[in-house]
Amino acid sequence: MADRYLSFTGTPPGRFLTRRLGLPQPAPLRRWSADRPSLDGGLLHLTAGKSDLALAPVLARTGLDPDDATGRPAAVVLDASGVRDVEGLAEVHAALRPVLRSVAASGRIVVLGAPLDPDDHHQAAAQQALEGFTRSLGKETGGGRTVNLVRLTDADAAESTLRFLLSPKSAYVSGQVIETGAREPAAPHDADRPLAGRTALVTGAARGIGEAVAETLARDGAKVVVLDVPQAEQDARRVAERLDGIALPLDITAADAGDRIAGALPDGLDVLVHNAGVTRDRRLVNMPAERWSSVLEVNLASVLRTTDALLAAGAVKRGGRIVATASIAGIAGNAGQTNYGASKAGITGLVRSLAPRALAGHGVTVNAVAPGFIETRMTAAVPLFIREAGRRMNSLAQGGLPCDVAETTAWLAHPASGAVNGQVVRVCGQSLLGA
Ligand SMILES: NC(=O)c1ccc[n+]([C@@H]2O[C@H](COP(=O)([O-])OP(=O)(O)OC[C@H]3O[C@@H](n4cnc5c(N)ncnc54)[C@H](O)[C@@H]3O)[C@@H](O)[C@H]2O)c1
Repeated sequence: MADRYLSFTGTPPGRFLTRRLGLPQPAPLRRWSADRPSLDGGLLHLTAGKSDLALAPVLARTGLDPDDATGRPAAVVLDASGVRDVEGLAEVHAALRPVLRSVAASGRIVVLGAPLDPDDHHQAAAQQALEGFTRSLGKETGGGRTVNLVRLTDADAAESTLRFLLSPKSAYVSGQVIETGAREPAAPHDADRPLAGRTALVTGAARGIGEAVAETLARDGAKVVVLDVPQAEQDARRVAERLDGIALPLDITAADAGDRIAGALPDGLDVLVHNAGVTRDRRLVNMPAERWSSVLEVNLASVLRTTDALLAAGAVKRGGRIVATASIAGIAGNAGQTNYGASKAGITGLVRSLAPRALAGHGVTVNAVAPGFIETRMTAAVPLFIREAGRRMNSLAQGGLPCDVAETTAWLAHPASGAVNGQVVRVCGQSLLGA
């Protein structure tokens, strides 16, 4: 369902009228395309406090020009990892304030912080302050700009994350706090087709977000397996054919789904994306047990079961990636969605608990994307006023597109993203819900 308001505000009379009425001003977002893969403009590298990060070589590899003299940077990286007290926070203010007006439309602001020090409450206070700062700035900047915070200890380990956040691929990711850990050795890969030679299975990939994820992983070189329910087999085959992949008609709630996937892929898989999901909304007082259990089965129980079976069978290769799909409904809660909210919050719990063990035991990372309002058939079915509210109630004042979730998934699936583990990254334009 097209966002007519976004088109209207893109016209001069629309812009004039909506400004006069004080209505939201969504800016067209600059997304990735093959002919425009990087942001247009330079990168401004600022520092607050004394930093030990060796950032310059990493930033030089982002493709953005650190010596750009246009005066309108496409991206600003503020290294505040060395800020340890309130005085240091004054340096954050002093560094960013003078340059904010110059940041290009659809520009990126990335603040770098350090993990909170459990033995130094002044450092912890200052570093936590960066979170409130980043989230507030994200709500102020407008013009399609995004603001995110990365907590890191090693610049090299954070390279894939910085590349993502400083590119058009992260157009709908704002107000997020991402922690990157120690560097995990990345298998050799081709920069343009990082998933070449790898197999990726995407559940619920016959349409919607799953189809976009399959497309994006195929663009990055993966052989994709398009899994969907047998009733959607025709669509799954259409997607698989287009992407030179394989269709796998299978209801993911089948007790033996994990074994059947392992059987269909005797050489194992590198990327497992749990995307299949359903809603069966009703307030709890009116919710029959069947509505409750069908949502919990598809969205959570089957994810737990197939993940366990595939890890136990060794079907997810070392260096592999598991990406599950949560939702902001699991963070903020939604009236009429106790079943859905519970299932999606369950995904967050799964990721946080399993991630360190899966990495230690299998060399596999486990993360989740948590979409906000994404324009798909699922959200097109939402009643008009709720749909409009969902679209506008975020810092970018518009819904996301399936490709936004897909790009975030592709970053998490990247062979160089081994230091990103146990993260739940919202793709929600910094939705006010669950903020
Ligand atoms: N669209 C949004 O705004 C939004 C927001 C937050 C989270 N999500 C989540 O993103 C994911 C994709 O959402 P979407 O909007 O593309 O939904 P969609 O309804 O368009 O697509 C879901 C796909 O999953 C498949 N599926 C459902 N049950 C299955 C099963 N038992 N086995 C195999 N496949 C099954 C469906 O056939 C369908 O192809 C879901 O997990 C959803 O909860 C979506």
